[in-house]
Formats: sequence, structure tokens, C-alpha cells
Amino acid sequence: MRNLIISAMSIMLLLSACNSGKNNDQSAQEQINKKELLAQAQGLFQQLPAVAVNETNPITDAKVKLGKLLYFDKRLSKNNTISCNSCHNLATYGVDNKPVSPGDKGENGKRNSPTVFNAALHFTQFWDGRAKDVEEQAGGPILNPVEMAMPEEKVVLKRISDDSKYVALFKQAFPESKIPVTYVNLQKAIGAFERTLITPSKFDKFLNGDSTALAENEIKGLHTFVKTGCISCHIGPAVGGSMYQKFGLFGDYSALTKSPLMDEGRFGLTKNAADKYMFKVPGLRNIEKTGPYFHDGSVSNLSEAVKIMGKLELNKDLSDAEVADITTFLGTLTADIDPKLAEEPKL
Ligand code: HEC
Ligand code: HEC
Repeated sequence: MRNLIISAMSIMLLLSACNSGKNNDQSAQEQINKKELLAQAQGLFQQLPAVAVNETNPITDAKVKLGKLLYFDKRLSKNNTISCNSCHNLATYGVDNKPVSPGDKGENGKRNSPTVFNAALHFTQFWDGRAKDVEEQAGGPILNPVEMAMPEEKVVLKRISDDSKYVALFKQAFPESKIPVTYVNLQKAIGAFERTLITPSKFDKFLNGDSTALAENEIKGLHTFVKTGCISCHIGPAVGGSMYQKFGLFGDYSALTKSPLMDEGRFGLTKNAADKYMFKVPGLRNIEKTGPYFHDGSVSNLSEAVKIMGKLELNKDLSDAEVADITTFLGTLTADIDPKLAEEPKL
């Protein structure tokens, strides 16, 4: 991953050297060398893997089946009102399309629900990276007072143990555990399920070497995405999710997003001044479907979010044509997701 970041940074340097920082109107006439662009894209992004592997939590059918049941189970919330799927609806690309989400008591949280699709590939979880992987993350919302609001682990485990079908499924999923129904095993089961939520799109066909997988205007959009410098942060198979960056390198973000409150990102966690306004660079897979955008859902329109990114992160005033090109490319990251995946499983 470090190599990837270094190569992206050197490309950035090259780009800024040839491109004095001004938008150039000749870009429309520019000849795009498809072969070169493909090779460059293969270096920057990589195809999605079939699943996101974690050596300490191998994916098995029994774990995934159990994890999916838990993911949909409202009994994991205090008043039996919400499940993981309420905020990360698998039928709507793993989000609820709301700026912020109401929890078990109807009270809103402060941050936008990111998608669970491809999240397992990110180097950390949450907008501020406070959980190291999806297994650790899965333990959080159940006990979070404004999310599922369960008072403590014991209460969660009691509800599960009261259902003999769950007890049998935990035994099948964790045959090596003396006591299969534990909070850690619950996290592992949900994590294993999330590790299967990977969504390849036509962009992966392109990365696999099929340069006809993208239409001319989509290739042009990819070219603009690369040339503009979005790739200094949005790289890797998830097109993001591999580093933290300051939101607002070139100005105060709320001036453009009209955010109602200033979230200081990782600073809230580390209290280190260098972490002020640092957020995880989100992945852009399925981005046209996962609005509203940014950590607080403050911007509902994707073109607007792209324009803001240009200004805040690259100090560029992108033209409407450039924004349209980039947005067209982002559309190639939308996958067809099997509707069966989003059907609520029966215990
Ligand atoms: C009330 C709504 C709500 C519920 C219920 C909920 N989440 Fe979330 N989820 C969020 C919000 C909001 C965030 C971002 C919070 C932050 O970054 O501080 C988040 C973050 C995540 C992330 C991190 C993704 C990324 O890109 O960093 C994952 C994975 C996730 N949730 C999975 C789950 C699972 C699994 C459950 C059930 C155990 C669950 N969530 C329940 C709202 C919810
Ligand atoms: C210097 C790093 C950096 C660069 C360059 C950058 N981004 Fe971002 N991008 C981020 C960060 C950090 C966020 C999360 C901001 C937040 O909400 O706190 C983000 C968020 C986004 C989002 C919203 C994602 C979501 O799930 O809400 C989109 C869309 C996006 N970027 C597109 C782009 C495009 C297009 C470009 C090029 C014009 C670009 N970015 C350049 C760092 C960067």
C-alpha cells in the first residue's frame, strides 16, 4: 500500500509539473492513449478481490450465514427497533440515504452512515478510523447509546442465548469455541459476512484488460479523474479507504458544505493538533448511489461534491465539463447487486 501511495504521489508531481495548475480548455481535444491510461489505472486502483480476507477470521459459510442473520436482527437493539440493515440497507447500496441516521430512540447521530459494501477493504473503519477492522467495528453500534443502545454485552448475549436456533448456529460457526455465544464471536460472524460484501462493476472489467468495458465518455472521465489529481487520495481497489487526509486542505470545509457543526475528525480521538479535520478518505465504489455526501451528509448532489473536492483538496476550480466528466467516470463504479443479497434471512 505504501508503494501505491508513493507512486500516486509521484504521478501527482509529474502532473503538476506539466500542468501549471490552470484548467486547460484544450482537454476536450486531447488525445487519450487508452493503453497507457489502462496501464496507469491498473497501477493506481486494482480490481476488487472476491472477498476481503482477514487471516485471523477466516470466512466460512456457517459464519457468513450467522453474520447475515445478526446483521438483520432488530433484537440487537434495546427496543427491538433497528438492525444494522436499518442504517446500512443492503437494498440501497448499504446506506440509508439520509444525512445522519436515527437510532433506537429516534435520536439522530452526528455522522453520515457510510456504505458497508467494500468497507472491509478499508485500512481502518469509521470516518475517523477509530476501529481497526470490520470485526472490531461491529461491536460498536450495538452498545452505542444513540445507535442500537444495548446497555452491555451481557444483555446482548442473553437475548441471543434465549433463542436455541441462534445457539445452534453459533456452535456450527465456531466449532472450536468452548462457549460459542460470545461477543467476540458475534463480531467475527458479522465481520465475516461484511467481508463478502464486495461489488465489482464494469470498471473492474476495464482493469482486467478489457478496454471496451468503458464507453468513450467514461474513459474521458477516468482520464480527467487521474489528471486532476483525485488519485493522490482516492486510490486502491476501493478507490479510497487507504489513508487519512485533511478535509479542507485549501480552506474551511463548512464554507462550501454549509455544515451545521464543525466535526474535527481524528482530532476528537487523538487530541493531536495535526489530526484536526483529518478524516479517512472514503472509498468511491457505488458513490452515485450512496448520497448524501461527506461525513455529515451535508451535500446531496454528487456533481456538487466533486466540485467541492476540487476546491478544498486540490485548490482547483473545476469547470462544469470537468465535473461532468468525473461524475460520468464515477458512474462506472456502480455495481449490479444481486437483490437476493438484500432479502431478510429467516432464522
Ligand atoms: C443508527 C444507525 C446505525 C446502525 C444501527 C449501525 N450503523 Fe454502522 N455506521 C453508522 C454511522 C453513522 C457510521 C459512521 C460513524 C462514524 O464514522 O463515526 C457507521 C459506520 C459503520 C462502518 C464503517 C464503514 C466505513 O467506511 O468506515 C461499518 C462497517 C458499519 N457501520 C457496520 C455496521 C454494522 C455491522 C452494524 C450492526 C451491528 C451497524 N453498522 C449499525 C450508522 C449505523
Ligand atoms: C487530498 C486528498 C483528497 C483529494 C485530492 C480528493 N479527495 Fe475526495 N475526499 C477526501 C476526503 C478526506 C474525503 C472525506 C471528507 C469528509 O467528508 O470528511 C473525501 C470525500 C469525497 C467524496 C464524498 C464521499 C462520500 O462517501 O461521501 C467524493 C465524491 C470525493 N471525495 C471525490 C473526489 C474527487 C472527484 C476528487 C478529485 C476532484 C477528490 N475527491 C480529490 C480526500 C481527497
